[in-house]
Amino acid sequence: MKLDYMSGFQNILSTEALKNALPQNQNSPQKTPYSLYPEQLSSTAFTAPQKSNLKSWLYRLRPSVGHGEFKPFHHPTFFSHNFDEICTPNPLRWSPLPIPNKSHDFIAGFMTYAVAGSPPSQAGCAVHMYTCNSSMKNSFFQNSDAEMLIVPQEGELCFKTEFGILEIKPLEILVIPRGVKFQVLVQSEKARGYVLENFGSYLRIPDLGPIGANGLANPRHFLAPVANYVDETGTYKLLNKYMGELFVANLNHNPLDVVAWYGNTYPYKYDLSLFNTINTVSFDHPDPSIFTVLTSPSHEVGTANVDFVIFPPRWMVAENTFRPPYFHRNCMSEFMGLIVGAYDAKQEGFLPGGASLHNTMTPHGPDLETYRKATAETLKPTKIDQTMAFMFETRYTFRTTQQSLKSKFLQKDYLKCWDGFEPEAKVSPSKNSDSKHKVKAK
Ligand SMILES: [Fe+2]
Repeated sequence: MKLDYMSGFQNILSTEALKNALPQNQNSPQKTPYSLYPEQLSSTAFTAPQKSNLKSWLYRLRPSVGHGEFKPFHHPTFFSHNFDEICTPNPLRWSPLPIPNKSHDFIAGFMTYAVAGSPPSQAGCAVHMYTCNSSMKNSFFQNSDAEMLIVPQEGELCFKTEFGILEIKPLEILVIPRGVKFQVLVQSEKARGYVLENFGSYLRIPDLGPIGANGLANPRHFLAPVANYVDETGTYKLLNKYMGELFVANLNHNPLDVVAWYGNTYPYKYDLSLFNTINTVSFDHPDPSIFTVLTSPSHEVGTANVDFVIFPPRWMVAENTFRPPYFHRNCMSEFMGLIVGAYDAKQEGFLPGGASLHNTMTPHGPDLETYRKATAETLKPTKIDQTMAFMFETRYTFRTTQQSLKSKFLQKDYLKCWDGFEPEAKVSPSKNSDSKHKVKAK
């Protein structure tokens, strides 16, 4: 469907589905246009500094509080607290999660892979995969724990939210603020993708430092929906993720009944192909932080609660340089996914719809085949094309779920891709140390 969007990142936007529905001079007049109920959604504390304060005012047919009592709702594969967890220093990699034929909607198809931090601490994140082949019918979802970043890998989805309607497809992402109610319609035969739950401070475009005022993600390319309300009564369910577990309440109306809204917290989408990639034009591989699309800062400057980083198509021109991602160990934890194509550090095994986890201080890097090729090739300008990998990188260590570690899609032989790295340096006797040999440059 042809949808209208408004552009800008965390701008104060205004939209109304009925003419003059939005009060112009105040937030909460005694009598509102169309007798709508004003309701504020706060994404930051009331007292957050003005430059980082996010809130919107919604004008709706019924206040959000008009729901039945929330009762526990068991979801066997979607959770982020009080679960049977495993921390492992081993590198992990999963083959693509298949999309079952059995009819299931967006929420039913959630499978939690790993959790870092927790909802009660309001720090860290969780990573899930979704699969679905049917639309949510008479049910809605809100996440009280986290802002959600959705990364489609296959299939198109339509998100009907309190703020309006957004459609996304692979190579686009969607962010839904904490607490916003929505319903997901599947617009293709089936769909699959990744979800980041961000328990910490809201995602924002990173400071660009010496890059300057332009580059990476351009704020004008972030798109917000226009107001769109539904006035329907009937029997509905509202699922609420709260402190890591799900609850459900009955509703006697469709909760997507916001006629007008204004403010700077709202769902938004972004087309990853519009990312202005910055890379070296001299030598050495920059740290992957150069590809950060969005960041959730922690209280420690420069140390993200979680970053969303992409590895987009780009020219590789570095001279005298090992061009693929280098070997490294990281105090941060790295969960990676692949939307399309191949990732330049792995020749095989890391597939679209698959995932990998390199946890805190877990060494990793290019596989043997990639290493040999990259150290032998003649360095000409080349373009890495038709690819889009991404990383959720957090300062917290991921605890993996039993279901992800026992999954038959976990690649038991992942470590073998680094077999065969033998010393290639020539050695000769050392005069000045206890060791019998010293290394000579090749
Ligand atoms: Fe890494």
